Amino acid sequence: MSPGLDSFELEKAVAILKRGGLVAFPTETVYGLGADAGNPDAIRKLYAAKGRPADHPVIVHLADAAQLTQWSREITPAANKLAQRFWPGPLTLILRRTPDVSDALTGGQDTIALRIPSHPMAHALLVKFGGGIAAPSANRFGHVSATTAQHVREEFGASVELVLDGGQSEVGIESTIVDVTGVQPVLLRPGHISAREIEVAAGVALGSPQANSPRAPGTLAAHYAPNTPLLVMEGDLMLELAATLARQGKSVAVLARSTLQPLLPGLKWIAAPHPAQAYAHDLYANLRALDAQGCDAILVEQLPQQPEWAAVNDRLGRAAAGSRQRP
Ligand code: TXA
Ligand code: MG
Repeated sequence: MSPGLDSFELEKAVAILKRGGLVAFPTETVYGLGADAGNPDAIRKLYAAKGRPADHPVIVHLADAAQLTQWSREITPAANKLAQRFWPGPLTLILRRTPDVSDALTGGQDTIALRIPSHPMAHALLVKFGGGIAAPSANRFGHVSATTAQHVREEFGASVELVLDGGQSEVGIESTIVDVTGVQPVLLRPGHISAREIEVAAGVALGSPQANSPRAPGTLAAHYAPNTPLLVMEGDLMLELAATLARQGKSVAVLARSTLQPLLPGLKWIAAPHPAQAYAHDLYANLRALDAQGCDAILVEQLPQQPEWAAVNDRLGRAAAGSRQRP
């Protein structure tokens, strides 16, 4: 057993899921808020807890690829190759669903999102539960995702009965989502597994989304947002704006990467790690820490545009858009 894996807690989690309750659990990407994927009442409870619109489909988590055919009627060659290469791990595949899959999981679409996570606690829970666990990221709809058990408690308080604590999520951002219903895989959400890695493993170039491609409505322009207005900008501009705001008596929180911290009153400063994967690992914890300061603005230093930054740039762009839409 890995550290922190407590069989009593797991039994309790399985009992809660079986009676239609919600359990938050760690995965290698972010924490998930789980419900029995075979129980439409439990799924409704899940949507209500998150404040999520009913047409936003969820990912069903499985213990083993042998369960795939219960959920998908057509495992394409691309799906097989990607599953073999990246599962268990931070990859979600969009496949054609079987007829008995509940509309509550798919937003009424003909497809289902499936993922086999690698986190030992998620895996142990899935094995013990036996069925699929529907789990969106464990945050209120549109808000910053959770990468620790504490973040989940901050999001939901007592409305989630049990939060399994598996430490800080290793990857730190949500899984790469790939539509594998056609010959060419289509990237629907960038993540830790890059577009290039998907192409190499599938042995075919990525296609672009078609009008009839599965919708990933969770990939809205506004998402992953803190309550404080967030702006992404180039380092020098960021320093200038921080100084201007400080002169106006405003408090500023900064997520920097290569700029050096200036001496300004009321400035909260986090120096993020330089490599893309380490930056992603800390991203949501850093955004939460800066948001908690209650400053007038969060300024984030613009990141490089190379492919390894695609997923982090995607999340920051949506966080900025989402924070502008807050009341
Ligand atoms: O890393 C992750 O994927 C985490 C952990 C907990 O596994 N989960 C996660 O779930 O990020 P959520 O609900 O926050 O995001 C799921 C995304 C949404 O953008 C949703 O629209 C998309 O998956 N999705 C789900 N089912 C789909 C389907 N049938 N077709 C297209 N997109 C789908
Ligand atoms: Mg989410």
